[in-house]
Amino acid sequence: MRVLLTGGSGFIGSHIALLLIERGYDVLILDSFVNSSTNVIKAIKTYLDNKNINHSFKIINGDIRDKKTLDRIFDDSAKEFNPIQSVIHLAGLKSVSQSFIDPLHYWNVNVCGTQNLLSTMNEHECFSIVFSSSATIYGLTDSAPITEDHKISPINPYGKTKVAIENMLYDLYKSNMKSWKVCSLRYFNPVGAHSSGLLGEDPIGIPNNLFPYITQVAIGRRNHLNIFGDDWATTDGSGVRDYIHIMDLSEGHLDAIDYLNSKESCFEFINLGSGIGYSVFQIVSQFELSTGLDIPFLVKDRRDGDVAKCYADISKAKKLLGWKPKRSLEQICLDGWNWQKKNPNGYN
Ligand code: NAD
Ligand code: UFG
Repeated sequence: MRVLLTGGSGFIGSHIALLLIERGYDVLILDSFVNSSTNVIKAIKTYLDNKNINHSFKIINGDIRDKKTLDRIFDDSAKEFNPIQSVIHLAGLKSVSQSFIDPLHYWNVNVCGTQNLLSTMNEHECFSIVFSSSATIYGLTDSAPITEDHKISPINPYGKTKVAIENMLYDLYKSNMKSWKVCSLRYFNPVGAHSSGLLGEDPIGIPNNLFPYITQVAIGRRNHLNIFGDDWATTDGSGVRDYIHIMDLSEGHLDAIDYLNSKESCFEFINLGSGIGYSVFQIVSQFELSTGLDIPFLVKDRRDGDVAKCYADISKAKKLLGWKPKRSLEQICLDGWNWQKKNPNGYN
């Protein structure tokens, strides 16, 4: 089965790509490499070669906003009598802070890019899509665990683009309910790395997120971790989040594809998280325990836009997709550290 994976060179996309190829899917990766390195593709090939896995996946260096490129991808597949049967759509911009600085760019890439992709799919009668949404759409809420019917109330332009895309997907589905199959996966906090140490998270510049910041402190690229507040209404005062192993998240996408394949048509929003909330102090302690390293930290003021607790109710994913996360927080720490240790400067 041929799958088009947009954003397949990014942190999440690269792990999904590997899994799809390992499971025998025919994968086309479309990425503009605006936020990823071509070395990611080399790492995927190295892994597959080391494992003697036959592969013929294709990389297309292109932008989802470029209609001609998209048309060519779908046309070429049709000419090869191997049409694209499903799209996993991850290409987009994801920095909350950047989205405040340049909101129009975020709307252009995320919303116009997705609109372009969806009209191309529609024209080529490819009606099956898994979309990468985010828990950020739930906004400032302290009512954890969060179910899918929780109020949608994004507080940043990035989150607003995700809501706009979910709405666009819904309208499209309603316009042709006999054909469209849509699954919008709302990710919580994807972390960790592939167990081979060949793929992992490599943020450009100073990491905004907790987990890559910790691994960069561990490797000596940063002096200490700043903990944003120890006076939150949580058991130890630090923020509580739902950290999900990147391979558990990736497996959720394959289950979503299976789910779409089993349906004539459908439209679903589904949370993907571990279902467990861990505090920043708990993450630091577990990382130290798992790796034997010290993570020096300073407690700083709260960060704007943060909440005390945010973790998922994952019963819908379990019920509908037959999916559940299998990897522990310890595994997350071990795999994340293994990646950072083997790649102190990421992909460069
Ligand atoms: P990433 O930046 O590592 O990957 C995104 C990929 O998309 C990159 O390789 C980038 O080069 C590519 N891309 C960007 N704009 C493009 C365009 N116009 N055309 C083609 N390719 C383009 O991010 P990620 O962490 O892998 O996230 C993937 C998706 O999941 C994003 O849509 C993000 O919003 C969503 N998401 C991520 C998280 C997270 O914490 N990482 C949480 C929730 C949702
Ligand atoms: N934190 C620190 N120090 C840091 C970074 C983070 O103490 O250097 C704390 C935060 O205050 C928060 C927790 O660690 O309590 C997690 O913060 P992250 O930045 O790692 O993750 P967020 O939950 O804030 O946000 C992430 C993505 C969003 C996405 C959201 C839900 O950055 O884009 O998960 O999917 F929307």
